[in-house]
Amino acid sequence: MHKTLITTLLCLSSFASLADNINNPTIEILATGGTIAGVASSQTSSSYKAGKLTAEQLISSVNGLSNLANIKYEQVYNKDSGDVTLNDWLKLYGEVQKAAENPSINAIVITHGTDTLDETAYFLELTAKTTKPIVLVGAMRPATSMSADGPLNLYNAVAVAANKDSTGRGVMVAMNEKIFDGREVYKTNTTSVDTFEAPNDGPIGTVFMGKVEYKSKTVRPNTVNTPFNLNGVTSLPDVAIIYEHVGVNTEMLDHILDTKNLKGIIIAGVGDGNIPSYEKDFLTKARKKGIVIVRSSHVGSGHVTYDYNNLDTTYGLVSGDDLSPSKARILLMLSLMKTSDIKQIQEYFDKY
Ligand code: SIN
Repeated sequence: MHKTLITTLLCLSSFASLADNINNPTIEILATGGTIAGVASSQTSSSYKAGKLTAEQLISSVNGLSNLANIKYEQVYNKDSGDVTLNDWLKLYGEVQKAAENPSINAIVITHGTDTLDETAYFLELTAKTTKPIVLVGAMRPATSMSADGPLNLYNAVAVAANKDSTGRGVMVAMNEKIFDGREVYKTNTTSVDTFEAPNDGPIGTVFMGKVEYKSKTVRPNTVNTPFNLNGVTSLPDVAIIYEHVGVNTEMLDHILDTKNLKGIIIAGVGDGNIPSYEKDFLTKARKKGIVIVRSSHVGSGHVTYDYNNLDTTYGLVSGDDLSPSKARILLMLSLMKTSDIKQIQEYFDKY
């Protein structure tokens, strides 16, 4: 009798979250590795190997997923996300597009290492051509850890993907009960489970035990509303990042300009995207070589003021808005596939 009551209550709570779902959704989980698939030698060890469990093992460790959706899966790769390459991104993009174009799939969840999850989210936000929900998820503790965060994060990510209000929101990240827009999200703490934040805009919603609540909309145009198309693309332009600091050795900077095929540079400036005045020769040389330079900041939040210190008009630079250096690099790579005109690239940075 007691057991029957518990079962009935469990079923009712499943129906409560199912009511908000797309009707009988099918979700494809694209597994790429990371700590969510990580294995350690003990439950409390801080040293472990990321990308060990297969997609199948990951999914079967999460109870209740089949109450939310029909689950399909694909192992795209199984890596520490620090090892993800641009070719891996193109492969992942291809898998996302395949699922997006498959009429029997309603939404996509990508399991990913947290170290570069925010970069992958923005890359797909700019390139995936679909209005179907795409939700990235990871974990800060390996699957074998005491209080592993992966299973509930994955459950919640599937709930977000299955939710009827998730369509048309571009790429999202569901971590630690919060939902973020893929452009705005950043990893902010090296070890905490509450590491993902959107410093400029905050989360767009919450997901608690599968219950999804949105509080704001994704504002920037994304996915189907960007001009960046990767169909048939096999490589991306080379863009370097220079991290400004006290006492930069300009001889080292000059060596960067010898890099074959270098098309762009992101300056991770100090403060408001500022660049030391003694780098003026470097900036001039780089621009003469046709290298496009975008100013961003390594402060961690806030916008870079257009033409701060007259840098943009003096040297012909692009102002990187509120993108971090690594996200500015993604937008510059994609922009350079279309143009090297800095006026047009500035427009891309103002918009996307
Ligand atoms: C990784 O990014 O693959 C390792 C770290 C993590 O997933 O938290």
